[in-house]
Amino acid sequence: MVRRNDHLFGYSYNHYDDTMRKVASGFSPVIAIDRKSPKPLHRQIYEGFRLAILGRNLHSGQKIPSTRSLALELRVSRIPVLTAYAQLLAEGYFESRTGSGTFVSHALPDKLLAVVRRGAAHTKIGTGTRRVSARCCRLPPFKSVPWMFGWGAFSVGQLAFEEFPFRVWSRIVNRHTRKVRVSALHFSDPMGSEDFREVIAEYLRTARGVNCDARQIMVVSGSQQALEIAARVLLDPGDRVWIEEPGYWLARRVFAISGCRLVPIAVDREGMNVAAGMGHSHKARVAYITPSHQYPLGVTMSAARRLQLLEWAERAGSWIIEDDYDSEYRYDSLPVASLQGLDRNARVIYTGTFSKTLFPSLRIGYVVIPTDLVSRFVAVRHAMDVYPPHLYQAVLADFLREGHFARHVRRTRMIYHQRRDALVDSLRTEFGAQLEVLGVEGGMHLTVTLPKGIPDREITKRAARQNLWLWPLSPCYFGGSPRQGFILGFGSTPAREIPKAVRQIRNLIPLD
Ligand SMILES: Cc1ncc(COP(=O)(O)O)c(C=O)c1O
Repeated sequence: MVRRNDHLFGYSYNHYDDTMRKVASGFSPVIAIDRKSPKPLHRQIYEGFRLAILGRNLHSGQKIPSTRSLALELRVSRIPVLTAYAQLLAEGYFESRTGSGTFVSHALPDKLLAVVRRGAAHTKIGTGTRRVSARCCRLPPFKSVPWMFGWGAFSVGQLAFEEFPFRVWSRIVNRHTRKVRVSALHFSDPMGSEDFREVIAEYLRTARGVNCDARQIMVVSGSQQALEIAARVLLDPGDRVWIEEPGYWLARRVFAISGCRLVPIAVDREGMNVAAGMGHSHKARVAYITPSHQYPLGVTMSAARRLQLLEWAERAGSWIIEDDYDSEYRYDSLPVASLQGLDRNARVIYTGTFSKTLFPSLRIGYVVIPTDLVSRFVAVRHAMDVYPPHLYQAVLADFLREGHFARHVRRTRMIYHQRRDALVDSLRTEFGAQLEVLGVEGGMHLTVTLPKGIPDREITKRAARQNLWLWPLSPCYFGGSPRQGFILGFGSTPAREIPKAVRQIRNLIPLD
């Protein structure tokens, strides 16, 4: 583990330092200088640029380095560089703008570029299938489905971003970027910063009933990375993994590329049906579950099922991955404590994220690892991305410690509560008992199921054209007979806009 290097000093950094250049410098192209060549240096530099421009490695408008910095980089005197630049300017390959520097010309003749493109060496990709790993082929090709990245009503995973305390956040970010500890720039602990892990451990023990200390916490880039590391530590190709049916499709992808056999276990009103799992495949190596707020149906796993699952894991020598992704948000009762807190045999790997409480592009989450597995997780993490970046760990540590996180969660819980109520009311008004509404107790989404024969994907595609970004339910199923329905996010839609948006959905669904 890397200890804090307190002997290393800190830097205060002033963005407006007089020594800073006002004009940005361009990248230097690769120019091979051959000092033994009879060709003069200025000609070699001229040709290097000309070829890079004609081969489109340098594009119109791209900044060119100053003659001084290029001369330094090529380890030649400035004279041949000046001569080459003068010629490139004269021939129209370069243009110079007073006060800004030199650029690749905007007025390059297309004719010239076309000639060279035809003659230039092209990368050829054959027509046949080129071999890639079998594991990778287990994933469907990435397709940007319309409902995934849309911005507006019902989008799942979009939050009340406008409520985010940007001022506080930027103050803390500034604090950490203006006063940089030099040690923070160096390689760091694969588990994450000790300071941040201490705060996370305190939060999890207090708010989530997780049984842990900082030595078990690993900081990761979101729960997705937690799953990836856990899969690499715990699973071999061919191992069976219980997954919830329906369930979180991105977790499924991780187990699929690990070469595992996915065993879908039905979710009922008490959560994953553990008895069915044992009947189906007692020897599964891992069970992946979302017990606090099942994704996507929103069920809270019953106490009896939790105990049954823990008992199974102990008897079978298996592991449970608990994905606790949004349990901070419960509206009608107190948050349910974690499954990990009930575990007496250290069989649970607990994962959490700031994607729901703060914002998903932060890409920070955490795993709580049973003590005997910590060194395995560290080894795998170190082989993947070595360690997490420093800046936002430091920012988050302060954000949590200074109480901003707790305040933000409290505030947004009230807002989401109102939005949830508005959505449930509007669904009732528009659909009565024609749609079943599930999972309204917590989180920032709920699920509705459609009567048989109405295809959810078709409707979500049509809805996207009206700026409504509901997600279809059917892709959450792994097995053969998916239920049709929608996942409706309510995190980002103000309560007053919800009735109109639900009315629009009503008009898209062919109900009597
Ligand atoms: C079930 C589930 N787990 C985890 C996450 C969060 O993942 P990440 O931390 O990788 O953003 C989500 C969604 O955002 C989710 O739906």
